[in-house]
Amino acid sequence: MSEWVMERTTDDDIHGVPAARLPKWVPLIIDGREMPAASGETFPTVNPANGRVLAPVARAQAVDVDRAVEAARRAYESVWSRVSPAERGRILARIADAITAKSEELAVLETLDTGKPISQARVDVRVAARYFEYYAGAADKAFGHTIPLDNDHLVYTLREPWGVCGIIIPWNYPLQMVGRCVGAALAAGNAVVLKPAEQAPLTAVEVARIALECGLPPGVLNVVPGFGPEAGAHLAGHPGIDHLSFTGSVATGTFVMQAAARRITPVTLELGGKSPQIVFADADLEQALATTVRAILQNAGQTCSAGSRLLVQRSVHDEAVLYIRDAFARVRIGPGLEDPDLGPLVTEEQRTRVVRYVEGARQAGATLVCGGTIPDDPTLARGYFFAPTLFTGVAPGMAVACEEVFGPVLVVLPFDDEEEAVELANGTDYGLVAGVWTKDAGRAHRLARRLLAGQVFINAYGAGGGVELPFGGYKRSGFGREKGMEGLLSYTQLKTVTLRM
Ligand code: NAI
Ligand code: MG
Repeated sequence: MSEWVMERTTDDDIHGVPAARLPKWVPLIIDGREMPAASGETFPTVNPANGRVLAPVARAQAVDVDRAVEAARRAYESVWSRVSPAERGRILARIADAITAKSEELAVLETLDTGKPISQARVDVRVAARYFEYYAGAADKAFGHTIPLDNDHLVYTLREPWGVCGIIIPWNYPLQMVGRCVGAALAAGNAVVLKPAEQAPLTAVEVARIALECGLPPGVLNVVPGFGPEAGAHLAGHPGIDHLSFTGSVATGTFVMQAAARRITPVTLELGGKSPQIVFADADLEQALATTVRAILQNAGQTCSAGSRLLVQRSVHDEAVLYIRDAFARVRIGPGLEDPDLGPLVTEEQRTRVVRYVEGARQAGATLVCGGTIPDDPTLARGYFFAPTLFTGVAPGMAVACEEVFGPVLVVLPFDDEEEAVELANGTDYGLVAGVWTKDAGRAHRLARRLLAGQVFINAYGAGGGVELPFGGYKRSGFGREKGMEGLLSYTQLKTVTLRM
């Protein structure tokens, strides 16, 4: 640890944990070294539960990103591209173990930085470790093919790394994002420049430290915390980047793709969703609705795959609405460290976005069943809390019904038959995930084919961390796949070799 990253000496307990357990500064990590930004500037990252600053973070700007990209290129060419796939796997396996060994410390940091309930942060740590473990095992299994052309030729394909990957991640699941993107990129043999979100950069820097301690060569993973339009935009347009992976909003994804287009840099875009939970009258209603409630409350609804539209067959509509209203009434709201059902939103800005959607829905004539307000509990006054909110009487075209709200807000729309369910489900610009709840297996599989979504769950929603399951969008939810073996292949390019015998 460099000398300006000193432990605090005060025992001042400002976040529910001793301040001494917080970093005094959060550095950039470039070429294996911790350093301030070239400008010396920092920005604060804030605890959403109480609005207080957790730590100043080095604010990467263009020159810092340039240095990170140069370091990654050097490390790729002189070291990492010569390391065998099996050895890459061994290093990743050590990182998985080291993340697990630091579980509680990482979970507390993630909760403080993002606001999420600590039990969810603990799951995120487990999932992050599992990504490194999964891709450790996959590193030496990215096989090519032999192609039977004719008797005079030998043809085979090679899966090769891109070289230097730029990875831009959002603030909602920093640890999981680092696992799924960085784990796969390193396993495939790439060097990485990672740009965490300015709202929650702490754990990404921590994982890079862990990786270095586990023997990842300096420069193979560089981290440049900073603002989107500065560090992010510079990375997206950087000529030294061979592949870009972006997770976040459609608007920013559009910028990233435009920047990449100027240099024909390939991109993977994961841009969120407005995913439907489709509940038929023959479903196990208790299971379907309990899962729906859990899924929309998880991380306060700030989840790209949040099932934020409940499509329910008309005969069970009223029963479903009452069930959810009652479940929302029982929700415990509080700071993440107290492990409530619902923590704060990530920033005041994000809460303002949610409030705007809720006000818009009311004005458009939707019926507010419950929530829709900032909780009046005075102990929560400084955090960015918002009550779980349920709307009925929603028209499919209303913003709250077809745009990503990214808050604990659920809309319910009734349907009469399978045909109408499919039409409603497919009726947004998004197509990330869909949940189908029915006991009719034929119907479930018919829907699985007709739904425009990258993942379809039947009588389930989410499956552990989904580490093994290829994940990505149809339509404006993006393209390219992360997670599973498809995720590994996204971080490779294919070469065909032909020899005349
Ligand atoms: P964002 O898409 O702007 O931020 C995601 C990442 O992109 C961050 O690291 C940010 O610094 C970076 N970034 C921002 N501007 C950039 C630029 N011009 N060039 C390169 N990188 C840039 O999302 P934001 O503003 O934090 O959230 C707004 C909305 O986006 C949310 O309300 C939600 O609807 C959606 N969102 C979706 C996510 C998902 O997982 N699908 C994650 C985060 C946000
Ligand atoms: Mg924060």
